[in-house]
Amino acid sequence: MTISPFEALACPLDGSPLQRVEGSLRCETGHNFDVARQGYVHLLPVQKKRSLDPGDSKEMVAARQRFLNAGHYEPISDAVNHAAAGVFQAKNAASFLDAGCGEGYYIRRLANTLDEGQNAAVLGLDISKWAVLAAAKQDKRVRWVVGSNANLPVLPNELDCVLCLFGFPVYHEFQRVLKPGGQILQVDAGPDHLRELREIIYPELKPDRPDRDAIPDGFQLLGSEYVRYSLTLTNQDAVADLLAMTPHLYRASAEGRERAEALESLTVTVDAVLRRFERT
Ligand SMILES: C[S@@+](CC[C@H](N)C(=O)[O-])C[C@H]1O[C@@H](n2cnc3c(N)ncnc32)[C@H](O)[C@@H]1O
Ligand SMILES: [Zn+2]
Repeated sequence: MTISPFEALACPLDGSPLQRVEGSLRCETGHNFDVARQGYVHLLPVQKKRSLDPGDSKEMVAARQRFLNAGHYEPISDAVNHAAAGVFQAKNAASFLDAGCGEGYYIRRLANTLDEGQNAAVLGLDISKWAVLAAAKQDKRVRWVVGSNANLPVLPNELDCVLCLFGFPVYHEFQRVLKPGGQILQVDAGPDHLRELREIIYPELKPDRPDRDAIPDGFQLLGSEYVRYSLTLTNQDAVADLLAMTPHLYRASAEGRERAEALESLTVTVDAVLRRFERT
């Protein structure tokens, strides 16, 4: 098994190929992007940023890192890895992008499960520099990039697989960067995901999303799979991390947050949907 950094990157300003020149990536027009000391590259131009510090905060990233590294979502990662094995099929080399990779848990576990003789070129991208920094510190084999799903710094038709896990899919971009026949592996929260936590922090639960089963243009659905289990968190810190890594912390009322923060333990339903789409 070999993991290598994905190389077919594009300038986020003009789309032309980026070449490695000493400690930078440079396009033919002369746009230059420094590789940070920790090994990641910032490819989110200031003019395309919607806020000064977009994406997940440092605290959210740290909470997610502790929670995921404790193994609480391992069955979801296993399902992703099983689906990713199908991307190789008859070939022994494939390229992967994790679009909205967070602190890189799923990519690290994917990289560790590849078979002998399989080669993966891997790119992890997130709009949060805190997430990418945490990811780069934990794994040196992967190309880590600060960038946006809305304007992927990737050349067209280069990828075999895009992972979008609890993320923000931008399908026309995924379609542009995938090879024909390439796959999206998408994981979303199902209707019962963390229901018990939501019941504690909200006075009333919102109805399920109506667009859940829509199939994006330019893709066909290869299959859906549900990952459902009951998860018991046995201490207050783990409950606090779960709350901090989801958008619920910000949406909850002060009373709801206090109720959750007082919990010594919590049993929640994990309900995730993994869908596989193929670029037609
Ligand atoms: C719920 S987290 C999931 C992170 C990771 N996939 C995981 O499951 O651990 C969503 C992630 O999407 C990132 N994000 C938000 N908007 C984005 C965008 N436009 N492009 C890329 N990433 C984005 C956030 O910074 C955050 O890390
Ligand atoms: Zn350029």
